[in-house]
Amino acid sequence: MNGTWTTRAETRADVAAIREVNRAAFGRDEEADLVDALRADASAWIDGLSLVATGPDGRVVGHALLTRCHIDDVPALCLAPCAVLPEAQGAGAGSAAVHAALAAAEERGERYVIVLGHPTYYPRFGFGRASAHGIRLGVDVPDEALMALALDDGHPLPTGTVRYAAPFGI
Ligand SMILES: CC(C)(COP(=O)(O)OP(=O)(O)OC[C@H]1O[C@@H](n2cnc3c(N)ncnc32)[C@H](O)[C@@H]1OP(=O)(O)O)[C@@H](O)C(=O)NCCC(=O)NCCS
Repeated sequence: MNGTWTTRAETRADVAAIREVNRAAFGRDEEADLVDALRADASAWIDGLSLVATGPDGRVVGHALLTRCHIDDVPALCLAPCAVLPEAQGAGAGSAAVHAALAAAEERGERYVIVLGHPTYYPRFGFGRASAHGIRLGVDVPDEALMALALDDGHPLPTGTVRYAAPFGI
């Protein structure tokens, strides 16, 4: 199945499918609800940075979302959630969606991305341990789970505390 995914920004017609992908991937409503809350939050949502991966039949199988966060007062993006339908996992759809999201962010001149997630998955996209750059979170998480990426070599990661958009409740 590798290489058969198409990526694009979400449209209004994708909202229900994105909800379903997140519900199925996580086996609960929490992440799907979070995506909907972020979409309704004008200070967090950035049009064009919610990316879907679709199969050859056009079905949405994967989703990656970037929303506004801050490192202290410096604008950055938060990558969350990332989700792929269980039956399509492990075949590159998640990677395709994440690569597309990061490329879209770079195109918009965004500089920094933060992710809180699997420390074995995100380094393949260039993420490194956030604490190595003096980036922290106000709550306790495993050190290796908080990762950061600079999209532009000319602008190294700032130091500071990550402030998530309100819907994350962090
Ligand atoms: C994590 C997820 C988005 C990855 O998407 P995917 O399409 O399955 O992943 P890809 O095919 O692009 O990449 C496969 C790689 O991801 C790794 N991977 C998949 N799920 C993983 C997980 N939960 N933890 C760590 N690595 C994982 C696989 O081991 C594989 O690694 P390899 O290339 O070294 O063999 C998807 O598996 C998913 O939706 N999982 C459930 C929800 C979830 O945990 N989301 C992430 C929250 S941080």
